[in-house]
Amino acid sequence: MDTLEAIMTRRSVREYTNDPVSEEDLQDLLKAGMQAPSAKNEQPWHFIVIDDSEILHAIPEFHPYSQMLLRAPLAITVCSDRKLEAKRASWLQDCSAATENILLAAHAKGLGAVWLGIFPDSERVLGMQELLKLLKDIRPVSLVAIGHPASQPTPVNRFKEERIHRNRW
Ligand SMILES: Cc1cc2nc3c(=O)[nH]c(=O)nc-3n(C[C@H](O)[C@H](O)[C@H](O)COP(=O)(O)O)c2cc1C
Repeated sequence: MDTLEAIMTRRSVREYTNDPVSEEDLQDLLKAGMQAPSAKNEQPWHFIVIDDSEILHAIPEFHPYSQMLLRAPLAITVCSDRKLEAKRASWLQDCSAATENILLAAHAKGLGAVWLGIFPDSERVLGMQELLKLLKDIRPVSLVAIGHPASQPTPVNRFKEERIHRNRW
């Protein structure tokens, strides 16, 4: 699958088979995340791999839109480390770019994934900080649920001509 095809056909996948995600696939997803662009190339991220079902199953207790974690074999939490961040707060964009890279890599490899928002919802941020025992400088930004797709949502075309402006509004 080439890059444009991956971008155009990716959808959120929330139903997974019982098959585990291989260590090789996981490494590829983590490499894709770390390959993202970041302001001043600071790469302020850390990635927490969660494959312990007890931890995965605890997340829906404080995150209302994360029920798929009851069936997902794996999730990756993308966090920012305050110690690695510049004064110009670009950490949110940086970690979001890493999150999207993971989604696209998962799709390109035939896996299914969905982005779960954590930051800036304070209940979710606190829930993740406590559950994953994060150090005080670590901010959880997003969580990506990953597995082998049990069903594949149909690609959709979201192109809107009227949202394009040329040279001025
Ligand atoms: C910042 C962000 C937060 C999201 N949070 C959730 C979430 O908490 N739960 C969920 O099921 N999907 C979540 N999504 C996925 C969106 O619902 C999904 O991307 C959107 O509906 C478009 O559908 P698609 O990904 O299939 O193209 C989130 C996506 C983004 C970018």
